[in-house]
Amino acid sequence: MINDKRIIYSGMQATGTLTLGNYLGALKNWVTLSSEYECIYGVMDLHSLTVRQVPAKFRKSARSIYALYVAAGLDPEKNCIYYQSHVSGHAELSWILGCFTYMGELNRMTQFKDKSAKHADNINAGLYTYPVLMAADILLYQADLVPIGVDQKQHLEITRDIAQRFNAIYGDVFTVPEAYVPKTGAKIMSLQDPMKKMSKSDENVNATILLLDSKDDILRKFKRAVTDSDSAVRYAEEKPGISNLMGIYSCVTGKSFEEIEKEFDGRGYGDFKAAVGEAVADALAPLKARYQELMADKAYLDSMIKMNDEKAQYYASKTLRKVQKKVGLTERIR
Ligand code: TRP
Repeated sequence: MINDKRIIYSGMQATGTLTLGNYLGALKNWVTLSSEYECIYGVMDLHSLTVRQVPAKFRKSARSIYALYVAAGLDPEKNCIYYQSHVSGHAELSWILGCFTYMGELNRMTQFKDKSAKHADNINAGLYTYPVLMAADILLYQADLVPIGVDQKQHLEITRDIAQRFNAIYGDVFTVPEAYVPKTGAKIMSLQDPMKKMSKSDENVNATILLLDSKDDILRKFKRAVTDSDSAVRYAEEKPGISNLMGIYSCVTGKSFEEIEKEFDGRGYGDFKAAVGEAVADALAPLKARYQELMADKAYLDSMIKMNDEKAQYYASKTLRKVQKKVGLTERIR
């Protein structure tokens, strides 16, 4: 608890840029949480180091993602938005927790298996201990709830296991976090393969709407979106492409599936895809404008980063000191 509120913790990796899937599936929901919860969101730049980065480009995307969090509506005065690498406690706690994590557990992580298959030339120890660092992120802030997608569920499970194991030995040190499943919000799928999640690292540029895409790009990508052979705008499991577009349209317009079906009754996919494109471009326009403003105002963004770093540091060091003491590390002489 912070200020009598339960704590929410989440974050995204600091590479590339954010997609419509990140926005509708996560960010847009995060924005609604700040009145009810104490929210802490990291730009997870340490996790990004598991893949080789070009330093200047990496630095730029990390700042861009910070600005996108804010542009999407997360008020940096109400939410603690910070860079993971600015709080050294993540790395310090990660080491300690690593000593409470079994290799057998890490061997079971499906993301590690997938990623090592993808980067066979660089299967580094960081990739292997990625879930331990993630556990440290979450436990450092005593988070009650962690909004995550299904692909991160296994990482939250291991976080809970580590926390419970530690607590069983040393007493109630960590809050055992739970996954937060938002009431609304959608899992947005690739526009080119609706069985696959929309991802910023997709090789097919047409598969993904980026938050900073131009209106023309957005319209073009929706026009090319994969659908199915009949032509009815109807939500159905056997129509994953159209259903995905309906989910997107519903998210940005607030219309229900029935309303959408009625609106496009007797009209073809062409009309529908154009309408989805327009609606998404309209929804993203203010976000993009705010982003440009933020990126132009270095002093403001820097001041928010500094303020939140200090806030995060404060919460983190409280937990870290407690942990160090519990495991018997020698206290510093002050
Ligand atoms: N692994 C997460 C992802 O790729 C990002 C992440 C790192 C995270 N640390 C976290 C998410 C802590 C939630 C909580 O999506």
